[in-house]
Amino acid sequence: MADHSARKILVTSALPYANGSLHLGHLLEMVQTDIWVRFQQSRGHDCLYVCADDAHGTAIMLTAEKLGITAEQQIARVQQEHERDSAGFLIGFDNFYSTHSDENRYWSEEIYRRLQANGHIASRLVTQAFDPEKNLFLADRFIKGSCPRCKTPDQYGDNCEACGATYTPADLIDPVSALSGARPVQKDSTHYFFTLPAFADMLTAWIDSGTLQPQVANKLREWTDAGLQEWDISRDAPYFGFEIPGAPGKYFYVWLDAPIGYIASFQNYCTRTGRDFDSYWQRDTDAELYHFIGKDIINFHGLFWPAMLDSAGLRTPTAIYAHGFLTVNGTKMSKSRGTFIKASTYLEHLDPEYLRYYFAAKLSGAVDDIDLNLGDFVQRVNADVVGKIVNIASRCAGFLRKGFDNRTTASCSEPELLQAFIDEGTVIAQYYEQREFSKAIRAVVALADRANQYIDEHKPWVLAKEAGREQEVHAICSLGINLFRVLMIYLKPVLPAMADKAEKFLNCSLDWTALPGPLLDHELAPFQPLMTRVDPARVDAMLAASAEQTDAGQG
Ligand code: MSP
Ligand code: ZN
Repeated sequence: MADHSARKILVTSALPYANGSLHLGHLLEMVQTDIWVRFQQSRGHDCLYVCADDAHGTAIMLTAEKLGITAEQQIARVQQEHERDSAGFLIGFDNFYSTHSDENRYWSEEIYRRLQANGHIASRLVTQAFDPEKNLFLADRFIKGSCPRCKTPDQYGDNCEACGATYTPADLIDPVSALSGARPVQKDSTHYFFTLPAFADMLTAWIDSGTLQPQVANKLREWTDAGLQEWDISRDAPYFGFEIPGAPGKYFYVWLDAPIGYIASFQNYCTRTGRDFDSYWQRDTDAELYHFIGKDIINFHGLFWPAMLDSAGLRTPTAIYAHGFLTVNGTKMSKSRGTFIKASTYLEHLDPEYLRYYFAAKLSGAVDDIDLNLGDFVQRVNADVVGKIVNIASRCAGFLRKGFDNRTTASCSEPELLQAFIDEGTVIAQYYEQREFSKAIRAVVALADRANQYIDEHKPWVLAKEAGREQEVHAICSLGINLFRVLMIYLKPVLPAMADKAEKFLNCSLDWTALPGPLLDHELAPFQPLMTRVDPARVDAMLAASAEQTDAGQG
């Protein structure tokens, strides 16, 4: 039956480059997105989540070359790894695709033609550094030389790591190509541009619309105030990507076809499942569209992408949700300190739900950086999840099994307390909706404290030893189980595997849309441990393993 209050929502995470492994920074984004998607689904909304690998660009071409494989082999290899690692963290993509796909070629060409037809594509000659040995135009980061100020050798691109000077690569003393060592020459070539300034009014309205996070709107305003520039969307062969229609030897810049990959992945999903593609992307759609992204790619999603969609006659995003960067133990992830932690390395040592919980406990709707402090991580998961939440179930389950055939009482002894737990769901849902996950977690843990306090005050372990007090023990522990059930409904978006185990134990589904009447005269399944404590030795082992890794094959 159609539920008319159900929203139609399409959600994306940024497309990871097919040039290296997923690390915990990528996972911060995927976990944030996945929790939000699972929350929407748990509320009965029709919420889909698509992603893909971002498979194009010079870096991927060079990585494949270095490994002696084709770019196609490189991206196939990485895609498999990304799918495995994201699944390992219980990221529930409805589709994980690739920008190197027929659908993406179709939409990149189609959108380009529409922009062109609208007069939003310009072309002109650009002079750029060129590697005469590799026959390749060189982006700034592929040129190195001595700093023009302090003379430190081997400085890349446009700033000096030693003295902090900023300059253009043309100012470097004795510049060489980082790829071949050859001295770059200056060379002209025709480039194609997207006329972003034509969208100044449209973008101003979007930035002022109130749907963006204040930090994101401010950042975008800085750029529009500084004056929008035309955006160079072409690269010369050799390039791994899509050739531009009508422009032999010219390729779409990777950032042109990357966001179009959201459309392509969704179209591939629709073909697979029979969903109606157009109703999501047409201009007057009733579907909502959200892009979860890191703060480093706000310009692409907040300026170029909405402008392109607008010119192409497609819907624009409902909002973009930017998050900050992950640091580990207070600093940027570092290979030498062992804090550059790959997703796969984490999974070899630790339960993915520890990290999902920890990220949830730290995430907000703002763009602030998030620190994974590993000492705090161990303490937090053990104290909250194992010590408080699982504890409610484990301490009650034993009594119910021993004395009461694993059945709950036929009536609820403290309906007001249970109702207070259920009422709190309204606030918790608002926190989830606003991506204030840390507040949602704090509210759940506060309820867990109340549940434990209730059990502590009523001391079933004392009563169980006294004759004639069985009814009280039964009532206390049955209530405890019912309180636990409500908490697990709230935590299910964060801890789906633990919720799965809890459903088996409780012998019922954890469904937020049908907020429960209590489980009365209800048979439980035997209690199984729902989550084990984080072992700090495993954290140390993970850091040691990370420190040993070389970055062979990573870009
Ligand atoms: N391929 C582009 C995105 C194209 S979207 C149309 C890209 N890829 S990426 O692999 O570099 O990053 C993917 C996402 O992970 C981005 O949103 C990025 O901000 C995020 N993160 C990468 N490192 C991160 C941290 N250390 N912390 C948090 N997020 C990080 O950009
Ligand atoms: Zn310098």
